[in-house]
Amino acid sequence: MDADAINEMNTEIIDEINRAHTTKALEDIRVRALGKSGRITLALKGLADVSPSQRKDMGFKLNQVKIAATKALDERIAELEPLEMQRALDENSLDATLPCRPMVQGRTHPVFQVMDEVAAIFAAMGFTIAQGPDIEDDFHNFTALNIPESHPARQMHDTFYLNGNDENGNPYLLRTHTSPVQIRTMLKQKPPIRIIVPGRTYRVDSDATHSPTFHQVEGLVIDETSNMAHLKGCMLDFLQAFFEAEDGIELRFRPSFFPFTEPSAEVDVKIRDWNWLEIAGAGMVHPNVLRNCGIDPDKYQGFAFGMGLDRIAMLKYGIPDLRPFFTSDVRWLKHHGFAPLDIPGLIQGLSGNGGAKL
Ligand code: DAH
Repeated sequence: MDADAINEMNTEIIDEINRAHTTKALEDIRVRALGKSGRITLALKGLADVSPSQRKDMGFKLNQVKIAATKALDERIAELEPLEMQRALDENSLDATLPCRPMVQGRTHPVFQVMDEVAAIFAAMGFTIAQGPDIEDDFHNFTALNIPESHPARQMHDTFYLNGNDENGNPYLLRTHTSPVQIRTMLKQKPPIRIIVPGRTYRVDSDATHSPTFHQVEGLVIDETSNMAHLKGCMLDFLQAFFEAEDGIELRFRPSFFPFTEPSAEVDVKIRDWNWLEIAGAGMVHPNVLRNCGIDPDKYQGFAFGMGLDRIAMLKYGIPDLRPFFTSDVRWLKHHGFAPLDIPGLIQGLSGNGGAKL
């Protein structure tokens, strides 16, 4: 190769680079000039056959060509790359004439909406919200609540037991009620206590009005004087606000039995001209329960209740079957998408009924 041929090759390669319009074309040019069998590479290899007198000069010239080609390629790539990026963006860019996709807006599940309503009403009555774990141990769910070893609730067919034992060798379980949070609260907080516990509960039970998971609201008031009359007044006040029916609510306390209260009652409600419906268990906290929590029953007393949250939701919103609450059928949930919560309205409904010292 003589000097002219080298110059010619240089011109050709640089021309080619300048005419390229894509980075892909530049890559091809790079391979053909500088790749393993590229023109420049082969010419450099060919130097071995050149006479020593010419080799140095030719080597120098070829190297100049190599440097120039590399530089020209890099510069042209730097020019083309942003243009190609812009073109790709333009092709995929937003078409402002397309109709937009409908926005699917989530909404509060009816059960949690009712939970919020209940919490707002009790908050206005001076209660705070306490919470506890869904996975409980035998002590909090049963023993501390004065529930004897032989109680049917402790049977396998009533309670979901889990694998794995607590430090007393008893299996963990899914809480069957929100009452264990009474224990958890009284163990760490001294009276006066005034809490509600909204939460999920579990039982081996399933039909139109029973689901293996359901929700309760527990209530607990412990001080030196609260009594059964206060319990009644408190329930009535709550129900009147919740059902927005100041005059149309009747309450009925039927004598009953719970190991953790004495006396105990089932609470039925009748709203306007509807039928009586059982919505809660309640009573005066049993002295043994107070003792189990290190609270002196000669000094302190109080009441507790456990209300079926799903029950009162069904009643308030006229839902006849409990199961759809838990089967997550979006059509049903949409249908029961309630109006936004009118918390000020609900609280205004509180009448101070019953004279509970709350
Ligand atoms: N824990 C009871 C249940 O699930 C309900 C209950 C009854 C709760 C009486 C209470 C109570 O706090 O005093 O059946």
